[in-house]
Amino acid sequence: MDMKNKIVLITGGASGIGRASAFAFAKSGASVYIIDIDIAGANAVVDEIVASGGQAISHKVNVTKEHEVAEAIARCVELLGRIDYAHNNAGIVISTTTTACTEKIWQKVIDTNLKGYWLCMKHEILQMQKQGHGNIVNTSSISGLIGRAGDMPYNVSKHGIIGLTKTAALENANKNIRINCVCPGAIQTTLVKRVTKGLNKLHPMNRIGQPEEVANAVIWLCSDDSSFITGHSLVIDGGRIAGEW
Ligand code: NAI
Repeated sequence: MDMKNKIVLITGGASGIGRASAFAFAKSGASVYIIDIDIAGANAVVDEIVASGGQAISHKVNVTKEHEVAEAIARCVELLGRIDYAHNNAGIVISTTTTACTEKIWQKVIDTNLKGYWLCMKHEILQMQKQGHGNIVNTSSISGLIGRAGDMPYNVSKHGIIGLTKTAALENANKNIRINCVCPGAIQTTLVKRVTKGLNKLHPMNRIGQPEEVANAVIWLCSDDSSFITGHSLVIDGGRIAGEW
């Protein structure tokens, strides 16, 4: 995929899927603006991209704070000129049931995984409307498509991201802005600490996915090769939720 002279903003780019996305966009020629609360991790990704001849910038942002998100997007535009693509991806997991969940846990997960996505989309879309084009991919999860016992607030947040994606896609379909999401199954990142044989076996391909396999789909959704696709949730799960097997 040739993305020379394109500008991409990636949230949660310090680690896991966001990190793989940053490398994949940089490899395809795009300039990458990484926002993450973990600035040391984001800086390390930037250093690696720059060392291999690419362009990347990091910015410490907590996606739950609107003024930090707005400032980061303004700074990205000031330094790089515009935002062609955005990959909203920063997220956390706190596993708990409907009855064990506390207000504190609910607030933290929903703030990061849902409010954070909305705030990033709000300011990205405002910029994309101004510049007359844009393309957004959000990282939801298969947990946004099916229930998941013991993972209530995370499951709710990932369902919410799909709603946000569809509604914002409809609001911007005639404005040259496409908005989709990816729904990964288990992917080998720090978020999935217990990479057990059992987890592999939950996936019909008998393995969990790699962050690069999600990044490749994000790039395709941003590219002109998917030009008639908007409001879509793309499942990347080795067949896990295709049905009984
Ligand atoms: P990760 O933990 O490796 O990366 C998440 C990144 O988000 C980290 O760099 C972290 O510092 C950043 N982050 C967290 N809270 C933040 C905040 N408030 N502001 C700014 N940055 C923040 O996790 P992974 O696995 O790469 O997850 C990325 C996304 O993919 C998440 O939204 C997750 O829910 C989703 N996902 C992950 C799956 C998996 O199996 N790893 C499966 C399906 C979805």
